Amino acid sequence: MDNNKRPETMERITTEELAQKFIEEQVAAVREQVKDGKVLLALSGGVDSSVVAALLIKAIGQNLVCVHVNHGFLRKGEPEQVIEVFRNQMNANLIYVDAADRFIDKVAGVDDPEQKRHIIGEEFIKVFDEEASKLTDIHFLGQGTIYPDILESEKGIKAHHNVGGLPEEMEMELVEPVKLLYKDEVRVVGKALGLPDNMVYRQPFPGPGLAVRCTGAITRDRLEALREADAIVREEIGKLETTPWQYFCVVPDIKSTGIKDGQRYMGWPAIIRAVNTVDAVTAKAYEIPYATLYTMRDRIVNEVEGINRVLWDFTDKPVATIEWE
Ligand code: XMP
Repeated sequence: MDNNKRPETMERITTEELAQKFIEEQVAAVREQVKDGKVLLALSGGVDSSVVAALLIKAIGQNLVCVHVNHGFLRKGEPEQVIEVFRNQMNANLIYVDAADRFIDKVAGVDDPEQKRHIIGEEFIKVFDEEASKLTDIHFLGQGTIYPDILESEKGIKAHHNVGGLPEEMEMELVEPVKLLYKDEVRVVGKALGLPDNMVYRQPFPGPGLAVRCTGAITRDRLEALREADAIVREEIGKLETTPWQYFCVVPDIKSTGIKDGQRYMGWPAIIRAVNTVDAVTAKAYEIPYATLYTMRDRIVNEVEGINRVLWDFTDKPVATIEWE
């Protein structure tokens, strides 16, 4: 049987009960696969890797080693939440690597978006490899592969690859407990495993994170302004009864004139973006209620250092992409 093919008889996991049954089966399967071996997992805090982490903690406890790399472009509160949920609440064996300075130094002065992505991707692999090579006796690599990843890589749409070039001497066997699940099923399983809602229903977030929303050459002060403004946008739009598919903030490398305490001063604009989409190939700008726009405007200019204008990007994709870079 092809292990990467979802059996036609496999029931869609839509309820807590079905999720619990799946969890039980996978816990048994993982124990059977790894026995008393150790599994290494890059835990980003995204839905898929978080669900795999929670499942593997249930199956093998301390024999799961999670590595959470903070590349400095995470959103406000993200690394803290990963530590709180996995280390403090689930008692995971978690290695937290604060590599923010290292990444920010690496991209200093780089304004080409693709080069920025490339540098961040390469550095991520390096940091992860460095952590992995400090560990001994690890023969398994956990991965948050889900079924759409398999289908897309079969169709040649997206190369599905491992976390990175692990040190060559480390021969790792993959442990991919959710690889036959669709995203909605992964979320049901995550809920059943006790993960918090804001992790399970998290909006998609690009791997290079805030780096692609701090356009051009990144500076620390503008990155911090972006992180704060983005937290306000997520908080305020998050209060709406139905939230859009993706909503965030961009702070471009542009300054305009403002007035503060009767003095002229130059500040950046914060650009609000909220879209709905099914597959991210096309997207419609989400109609943000005016009351929410005004609240975000007032909070951002009052609370965020360096921002003196708030704009709303309500362009559809196409013609614009969702992200600014
Ligand atoms: P665009 O900007 O191409 O984005 O309309 C479509 C979706 O992909 C996400 N995105 C990325 N995700 N690495 C990722 O993991 C990236 O470099 C990247 N760039 C864009 C984007 O957030 C949106 O959901």
